[in-house]
Amino acid sequence: MAKVTAGAGRNIPLAEPEFQAIREFIYRRAGIHLSTAKRALVAGRLEKRLREIGCPGYRAYLELLGGELRPGSEAQRAIDLLTTNETYFFREQKHFDFLAERVLPALAQTSQGVRIWSAACSSGEEPYSIAMTLAEHRGGRPWSLLATDLSQRVLDRAQAGIYPIERAERIPLHYLRAYCLKGVGSRAGSFAVARKLRERVEFRALNLNAPLAETHGLFDVIFLRNVMIYFDLPTKQALCRRLIPHLRPGGYLFVGHSESLNGVTSDLIVEAPSIYRCP
Ligand SMILES: C[S@@+](CC[C@H](N)C(=O)[O-])C[C@H]1O[C@@H](n2cnc3c(N)ncnc32)[C@H](O)[C@@H]1O
Repeated sequence: MAKVTAGAGRNIPLAEPEFQAIREFIYRRAGIHLSTAKRALVAGRLEKRLREIGCPGYRAYLELLGGELRPGSEAQRAIDLLTTNETYFFREQKHFDFLAERVLPALAQTSQGVRIWSAACSSGEEPYSIAMTLAEHRGGRPWSLLATDLSQRVLDRAQAGIYPIERAERIPLHYLRAYCLKGVGSRAGSFAVARKLRERVEFRALNLNAPLAETHGLFDVIFLRNVMIYFDLPTKQALCRRLIPHLRPGGYLFVGHSESLNGVTSDLIVEAPSIYRCP
């Protein structure tokens, strides 16, 4: 029998039961709560993929989503398509000022290295902004930076560290000169994060909705910005229970400016809006 494939040009309808099954899939795997109003958005993001692999409809597609989340698996591809990865360099500047003016000076005398974790790093703009701040303000003293995300697609982009030139807009000029290289020839119109900085960031796939390995150790600062907005209250609470033990006493947790841990955890002290501290 010939394989039934999706007709080009014709919409592939996403019926309510399949939409519910996709909502359940992304909630179970990633903790992401998609509202019932997001049916058109889901169809818009997945339809091209169904066509690409010649899948006749969402019922058949759902059968491909079982199994482990590993690079190349269809479950991973679906997650890549269903996550929202919007980010930019020096987003929410106040956090970088706080890091440079408050956190790093207080740690200047400690002999141990400063450890920072960008826990939903998207395509790398956030960790590279942290790395530039660290390189500038730590002098030769040791630091390390872990950057993780659930989406393999954005991690690949982050690791490459190449961005359209317009993305450089918010990078302070002296950082741009010190840590970025303008593309020439076939790379014109883009810029690259300098290798000396790129190599200092450890990128890793990590699902915040799953148990964390003990081996992560303790961090001075965890950036957990603009990811909990996709989670419901129980998921946020469970995540904080897993994450807070990885903060050093006195360490900081940064969330997005529109986020709050009010009602989520009482284990941290509010230092400033969107900045929390481990007692
Ligand atoms: C809107 S971006 C925020 C990026 C960056 N932190 C910022 O504030 O600019 C949200 C990121 O969270 C990631 N994400 C969503 N659910 C996740 C999960 N369960 N575990 C890890 N990362 C997740 C997405 O892949 C996406 O890259």
